[in-house]
Amino acid sequence: MSVDLTARLGRLRLPNPVLAAAGTAGAGRELAQFVDLAALGALVTPSVMAAPWAGRPAPRSAGTPSGLLSAHGLIGPGIDAFVAADLALLAERGLRVIVSIAGTHSDEFAEVARKLAGHPAVAAIEANISCPNHGSRGQMFAADAIASARVIGAVRRAADPAQPVFAKLTADVTDLGHLARVCADSGADGFSLINTVSGMVIDTDTLAPVLADGIGGLSGPAVRPIAVRCVWQVRRAVPHLPIIGSGGIASGLDALQFVLAGADAVAVGTATFGDPRAPLRVLAELTEALAARGFARLSDAVGYAHSQAAHLDDRQRAARRRPAEELA
Ligand SMILES: Cc1cc2nc3c(=O)[nH]c(=O)nc-3n(C[C@H](O)[C@H](O)[C@H](O)COP(=O)(O)O)c2cc1C
Repeated sequence: MSVDLTARLGRLRLPNPVLAAAGTAGAGRELAQFVDLAALGALVTPSVMAAPWAGRPAPRSAGTPSGLLSAHGLIGPGIDAFVAADLALLAERGLRVIVSIAGTHSDEFAEVARKLAGHPAVAAIEANISCPNHGSRGQMFAADAIASARVIGAVRRAADPAQPVFAKLTADVTDLGHLARVCADSGADGFSLINTVSGMVIDTDTLAPVLADGIGGLSGPAVRPIAVRCVWQVRRAVPHLPIIGSGGIASGLDALQFVLAGADAVAVGTATFGDPRAPLRVLAELTEALAARGFARLSDAVGYAHSQAAHLDDRQRAARRRPAEELA
């Protein structure tokens, strides 16, 4: 059975739904040695800021039994060098590119977005509002509705109207649905979630935190159920906007969970460090899994678990009613 894999992300159409996640595939140079990047739905670039930045002090990563803890900071060449070198190379290779952008305040986000306007290789912009806001003692924009609204509004106004803007959200909030609605009201064309989850590892020999910065971001299998839950919540909160789901995806069945929860596309990140072919393997496995379950189109599977949950709710309601009826 053949499956129509077209990913429908609002007005953005991708030939398939598997993306390389921001910051885990670089600008494609290294991965291109192992895989045909043009076979990906799209490549999401590392978050680019206005000026070059060398990142945070080392050590900046630590292994855990079920994921990677990292605090690299947004290492990058700055938007001008990025457009001249990285984006030019990606365009030359004919890749579909989603450019992740970041900043320390909304004006910087807007400045970076403006410099991408009209660039033919840019399929969309991902506004990384789940990075620390340096002006606010490391707090994330996405943890605060007003700050999120300010950044997403500024990016949407500054960006090329033809380039959809995806807000990259964090799981580290109590009311994710509210944050998503605020971003939608501020002009977001879709969502990308989740970013890494705040975490810490302490070395029991040195008795000190392993990362130089202490706290880092956890990614990989440990965060997958959190990420699936977040996709589910955002799909319910803002049903009309597309979602790129990420967090611990390492197989086609992992990806299928995200699709069933409401993701229109998925991004593979940490799994790529262990297996550079992971995104394309996930794509092949997802295609097989969709076919095996009778889905002729990816879009038919998007959010499908919500309808099944409604049936479950009905069954639970019926089960709860039964004793009362039997008593009557
Ligand atoms: C080393 C590393 C660097 C990352 N850099 C970025 C980044 O520049 N921008 C961003 O939005 N997310 C970044 N992320 C987050 C990933 O894009 C992804 O959302 C997250 O890791 C969850 O997916 P995963 O478990 O498949 O890695 C980074 C993650 C890692 C592990």
